[in-house]
Amino acid sequence: MQKISSAGRINNMSEKVAVFRKEHFNAAHRLYNPAWDEDTNRRVFGKCSNPNYHGHNYELIVKVTGVPDKNTGYVMDMKLLSDLVKEEVLKRFDHKNLNLDTEAFKNLNPTAENIAIVIYKLLREKIDVALDVQVRLYETERNFVEYPV
Ligand code: NI
Repeated sequence: MQKISSAGRINNMSEKVAVFRKEHFNAAHRLYNPAWDEDTNRRVFGKCSNPNYHGHNYELIVKVTGVPDKNTGYVMDMKLLSDLVKEEVLKRFDHKNLNLDTEAFKNLNPTAENIAIVIYKLLREKIDVALDVQVRLYETERNFVEYPV
């Protein structure tokens, strides 16, 4: 009976659980490859390459996967995750022009793919290495990307 303490049961669990935090930010961007001329940019990126930029309402979902901590029962404290996303992602990108206002996209085309990779890297280095991290980024309701796959 002593062996089946609640702490013991949790210790023996190897099941991973995924927790998710959803956040939102608005940002402007322009898809543009400086190695190409204007016509090529327009042909490849269409309206998304309009010189005067356009905006998106980005929905970001951060997924953290791991075994719940034996003391807290948490994979990760959601308040800490929320604070981390606000500090690392929203402060940097919310209400910004990604091309003009951010270091990350000065020399990187701000596609949803690249934005997801940048966000992943920012969060990954601040989250316990024992936990897996994945980001899903919605650029529109119907277009979204995930990284890593
Ligand atoms: Ni766009």
